[in-house]
Amino acid sequence: MSQPIPASLDESKVALLVDHFYDKVRADPLLGPIFNRVVDDWGAHKVLMTSFWATVALRSGHYRGNPLAKHQPLSIGVEHFRRWLGLWRETAGELLDTEAAALMVGYAERIGYGMRIGLGLSGHQRGRESGIPIRAHQVARQGSARRHGVNASVADPGRPAPATR
Ligand code: HEM
Repeated sequence: MSQPIPASLDESKVALLVDHFYDKVRADPLLGPIFNRVVDDWGAHKVLMTSFWATVALRSGHYRGNPLAKHQPLSIGVEHFRRWLGLWRETAGELLDTEAAALMVGYAERIGYGMRIGLGLSGHQRGRESGIPIRAHQVARQGSARRHGVNASVADPGRPAPATR
């Protein structure tokens, strides 16, 4: 569900957050190599991600896409999400006031939770290593992702999911 937009949060703040956050991601020993393998044009990626976050938080972006499908081929586990969210929280705290930072972190936690469910990742395990036969697992994860609103194209990427922890 959409939340009120803090007065201090606008498109330029979102762009600033995205810019600094992805500079950290690129340099991060865990996340950097995964991104650097698939992202050729960091300027374009930042523009895309600014549009995504402006759509989520400001309802002003024009992002249309399917984030879950983009993450499915990547080899990512809960440790990547943990690091991603840690860097996001850190960067939001550095650049935004308390209210705006809390909003952006809350959105990321809920979207990240939905994505982890959609990718079949739970608690401490990678879905693929969970021992569930692959077909049953795929069906389970598709159903679960659908319930969390992350498998279709993202009309409302800010749709809430239960809190991460
Ligand atoms: C809350 C957590 C996350 C959110 C909200 C998020 C969101 C997104 C979005 C919206 C895109 C663009 C999809 C498109 O092209 O339309 C994207 C791309 C990408 N994300 Fe994430 N992501 C998250 C976590 C992660 C994590 C943990 C990784 C692991 C390294 C990751 C790696 C990538 C990569 C490599 C791309 C580029 C994919 C490509 O261009 O093919 N993301 N992400």
